[in-house]
Amino acid sequence: METLKDKYAPYFKIGTAFENYDLVNADLIKTQFNSMTCANAMKFGCLTEKPGEYEFKYADELVKFAKDNNMAIHGHNYVWHNQTPDYIFENTSAEELIETLKNHVRILKDHFGELDSFDAVNEAIEDKSEQYLRDTKWKRILGDDYVSKVFRAIHEVVPNTQLFYNDYNESFPEKREKIVRLLKEMLADGVPVYGMGLQSHISIYGPDLDEIKRSIEAYAALGLRLRISELDVSMYLNNNDKDPEVKMPNPELMKKQADYYGELFKIYRSYADHIDAVTFWGVTDKDSWLNYFPIPGRRNYPLLFDDNGQPKEAFYSVMNF
Ligand code: G3I
Repeated sequence: METLKDKYAPYFKIGTAFENYDLVNADLIKTQFNSMTCANAMKFGCLTEKPGEYEFKYADELVKFAKDNNMAIHGHNYVWHNQTPDYIFENTSAEELIETLKNHVRILKDHFGELDSFDAVNEAIEDKSEQYLRDTKWKRILGDDYVSKVFRAIHEVVPNTQLFYNDYNESFPEKREKIVRLLKEMLADGVPVYGMGLQSHISIYGPDLDEIKRSIEAYAALGLRLRISELDVSMYLNNNDKDPEVKMPNPELMKKQADYYGELFKIYRSYADHIDAVTFWGVTDKDSWLNYFPIPGRRNYPLLFDDNGQPKEAFYSVMNF
């Protein structure tokens, strides 16, 4: 059977973000995907909890797997408001925090070698309308131009790594405008931003496909390379709503999902010149983060492979064109 990575080889890489326990699906991963993102293992707080102490065993296992199977490795992430050790922010000046970050980037470089691409900054834009940047410890200590500062600092240490800005709700017009503003200002200042990661945690109910096209165009128009970086298509209306329980899996909704995935990939193919990779956030429905968020234990079915690793209807609509 033809696989995702082979079918899409003329267009872009097909990635998956996974955890060590996902290696029970090693055969599926290596046959279908040619790019790997650690879903957690390379995050600052997953590598170090105490000054000077790094634990690489989880990331190492995933990196070895990717290398053994000729998968590209996309790093996720250096700077985020989440999953970051508290100690780096304690009693520190802006200069010291930048040094701490550079040291972290250097430690990863010495350990893994320089990776091809990395999410330098994750989710810096605020969702609330009236606010531009999210209020984070990074911003409080480094100032309002902290995103530029950290891109520059990271680039000094890993000059050959393609640095991405990565965010969610990136196709909502209001947030998109803010992201575009940030990226435009950075590019005008000569900040070494290479690309934009469109997380794409979306749902069978939207965003509207035209909005997705508009977003790809808006980010590509900045001259940036794009990654669809965390794709999943939830079965529920809104991540933040307590949607009424739907009996799942529901054939009608699975069909709707397959149709949506089909249309989505048609769009991605049409912008393939701008897109380096399309990465799914997970491997099978069984272990998707959406089974725990926003409602713990509410089953979701957002990916192309079912609980047993078998291709779903959505897989075939992505493959049949
Ligand atoms: O490792 C601990 C474990 O020791 C403990 O027993 C268990 C109890 O809750 O928690 C485990 O940590 C969890 C971790 O995932 C590893 O599974 C955390 O509680 C949980 O909060 C964490 O969630 C991750 C989330 O980022 C954190 O914000 C998800 O797995 C991960 O998929 C998700 O990924 C993010 C991207 O990085 C950025 N974009 C959004 C995306 C989805 O939220």
